[in-house]
Amino acid sequence: MKRSLVMLAVAFAAVAAIPRAHAQDAETEKAIEKYRAMLREDPWSNPGYLDADRGEALWTTRAGPKNASFEQCDLGKGPGKVDGAFAELPRYFADADRVMDLETRLLWCRETLQGLSAADYVKRPHPAGGQPVKEIGAIATYVASKSSGQKFAARLDRPQEQDAVALGETLFYRRSGPFDFACATCHAQSGLRIRLQGLPYLAEKKEASKVIGEWPAYRVSNTHVMTMQHRLLDCYWQMRMPELQMGSDASVALIAFLTKQAEDGEIAVPGLKR
Ligand code: HEC
Repeated sequence: MKRSLVMLAVAFAAVAAIPRAHAQDAETEKAIEKYRAMLREDPWSNPGYLDADRGEALWTTRAGPKNASFEQCDLGKGPGKVDGAFAELPRYFADADRVMDLETRLLWCRETLQGLSAADYVKRPHPAGGQPVKEIGAIATYVASKSSGQKFAARLDRPQEQDAVALGETLFYRRSGPFDFACATCHAQSGLRIRLQGLPYLAEKKEASKVIGEWPAYRVSNTHVMTMQHRLLDCYWQMRMPELQMGSDASVALIAFLTKQAEDGEIAVPGLKR
């Protein structure tokens, strides 16, 4: 009973996500905005930098049955090349015969180089509230931060990449699940909001290119860094869809589509979210 009420409330909040701001909401939002502005004034105060540092240390630390580090991991620009690599992802990797986003590639490197099971990792890939981002997320924060200031420049023109973008676009617009929601239900109109949260208009390139380059981001309300794979899992959870598996074709396709939407957008990692 309680649960269905909550679901109803969530559904209502989303369906009725119209530009209506209660006075109290507006006030809380102002306070949060002030906090974010303070963090922005001193960009180095973003706690996400601690995870980027942790990720850098993990990159060079030997681990796993093969006692190897990530230093031979090829993110598309050659083994060990980190600078600017994130800006060109997702991409097709011939060695894995798959299109991969950053996190999926790191998962693959971890398994092939270090001998640590990807299947095990994806059982609990994301941190609970208050817990620090997990190992791949920390490394992703480090790697992505090494493209900060650059623009997204993924080619996404190889046949496999085009297929991934097309699948991502289909998933973005297809309604499904118990609420019959699509990503587009919440992200294809300007000015939508659920309670306090503004819903970015991801179907439009202009807005998408402002926000997609900010992930991984430190999320103030969860007090940890959240990666793009985690963000999408959370949005699918809001749709009451089955859990989105980290590194799955669906997750990579959605990230490929979002990256295409954000083409020419600037990368600013770690971002800072409410
Ligand atoms: C029920 C509404 C809802 C649906 C459906 C939904 N999302 Fe979201 N999404 C949200 C909310 C709420 C936020 C913002 C959370 C916040 O403010 O921290 C968000 C944030 C995002 C962001 C981060 C934007 C930013 O500001 O940086 C991305 C990317 C995203 N969603 C992608 C998707 C994709 C892809 C789908 C479909 C698989 C989807 N969402 C479905 C509610 C939804």
